Amino acid sequence: MTTLTATPAWKELATHHAKIKDEHLRTLFADDPGRAKCFSAEGAGLFLDYSKNRITGETIRLLLQLAEERGVTKRRDAMFAGEMINTTEHRAALHIALRAPRGIRIKVKGADVVAGVHQVLDAMASFSTRLRSGTFTGHTGKRIRNVVNIGIGGSYLGPEMAYRALRSFGDRSMTFRFVANVDGADFNEATLDLDAEETLFIICSKTFTTLETMTNAATARAWLVQKLGSEAAVAKHFAAVSTNIEGVTKFGIDRANIFGFWDWVGGRYSMDSAIGLSTMIAVGPDNFSAMLSGFHAMDEHFRTAPPARNLPLLLGLLSVWYNNFFGAQTIGIMPYAAHLARLPAYLQQLQMESNGKHVDLDGHVVNYQTGPIIWGEPGTDGQHSFYQLLHQGTKLIPCDMIGFCQPLSPFTEQHDLLMANLFAQAEALAFGRTAEELIAEGSPVFQTPFRAMEGNRPTNMILANTLDPKTLGSLVALYEHSVFTQGAIWAIDSFDQWGGELGKVMASRIIPELSHCAEPTLSHDVSTNALIIRYRQMRGR
Ligand code: F6P
Repeated sequence: MTTLTATPAWKELATHHAKIKDEHLRTLFADDPGRAKCFSAEGAGLFLDYSKNRITGETIRLLLQLAEERGVTKRRDAMFAGEMINTTEHRAALHIALRAPRGIRIKVKGADVVAGVHQVLDAMASFSTRLRSGTFTGHTGKRIRNVVNIGIGGSYLGPEMAYRALRSFGDRSMTFRFVANVDGADFNEATLDLDAEETLFIICSKTFTTLETMTNAATARAWLVQKLGSEAAVAKHFAAVSTNIEGVTKFGIDRANIFGFWDWVGGRYSMDSAIGLSTMIAVGPDNFSAMLSGFHAMDEHFRTAPPARNLPLLLGLLSVWYNNFFGAQTIGIMPYAAHLARLPAYLQQLQMESNGKHVDLDGHVVNYQTGPIIWGEPGTDGQHSFYQLLHQGTKLIPCDMIGFCQPLSPFTEQHDLLMANLFAQAEALAFGRTAEELIAEGSPVFQTPFRAMEGNRPTNMILANTLDPKTLGSLVALYEHSVFTQGAIWAIDSFDQWGGELGKVMASRIIPELSHCAEPTLSHDVSTNALIIRYRQMRGR
């Protein structure tokens, strides 16, 4: 494949960028009254207004040309067809099969996978229904009221984000907790006030080997056996979700409570697989199914909508525009919905683990920037914290602003305030405040340099009717495919995570060294050696 920077579209984009980089959104809007209409698109229940970006029609034309030259559509079709697009692990990346309706056939290595997906979904539905209705009881016959999800990374962020996002649809008589960190404080806090007789642990791990999860699972097991006084209790208080059924069985989890998934589902693309068991227990099988239908609607939109109206494609290309041409290092995700508090963290793994790569598919070190840093907080909280830097700092930080027209809380009058803030922030970021405007408003002249806001800060506005399960599915799939688009432009493998896995290996080496007797001779760098020795001393070893 031609190097990205040598493609005709890239070169044209570079020239075009030099020409328009200083254009102000004020001018772009003044020059084109039809801009808001022209730069907006709709699909799968989501509306995207991307008019407050530093773009012209020519920018979009060239970005779409770039997508064509980089074969984004071809790669997308390969993904949907179950081809081994995760080349470094020789795997398909087929999360779209997780939400394919019953009866559709999608093949991996010649065999249909959708029937298997629905078998697991049915088993999850039956388990969730028995649990929610109280038919499934614990070891002492008590109803299960607490669910503790133990998992990390993709086996944690999705379940926790979705549980919070869909709280309004959840069973309020049940308690849900999420344990990820190997710091024992995480498990301790999550279980301190729980009655073991009413508690179910779901151990989520694609590999069932991850240190944090295995440690917390063992702690949970010991906690339960100690509280209930019997090993036999484990069968009634543990469920597991994994691709490693052998590992789960060895741990001693009842076969009836094991839910599988497949190597073609990446951890960060797994919240709609059995990894979402806690979500299904919280909101019920029908709502889970509605969430899957939202995912599927966005899959279909991505697969069939024309490029110029294709939401994930546009979102991905805009990210490339700022990342590669404006040199923006980060993208902010600002959901104006308290229930989406964990969406930025979820998208952080989705995007940074997928596109934080420095070699292309041929193994060559790239000569361009890849995945941006993703971060964010819900609005309006962020406004009283870091928005100052967004408005008046020296860095360009494009932001995705996300809002919902219908309130979910009974305090409906507050919703207008929330939405007014959302619209006002995007407006202020784009248009700023000039010195003339400030003086006309009576601001003292000496203050104007400090109070003036340059504006020209780009935002995408994503609007939906309400934060319901279906919308959540569409929203997550929107970002999954935007990440895919960016990875395809950069020609990187968005589905492996070798860097993340290195950390797992490095820690295993140090674990025995922390106890003085196990390995007194240290052979790390001098800094790491000294830190280990200091730690040993402070722990009295
Ligand atoms: O550290 C990287 C990673 O492999 C993630 O990709 C994954 O989501 C997480 O660890 C947890 O892995 P597992 O589900 O196998 O426990």
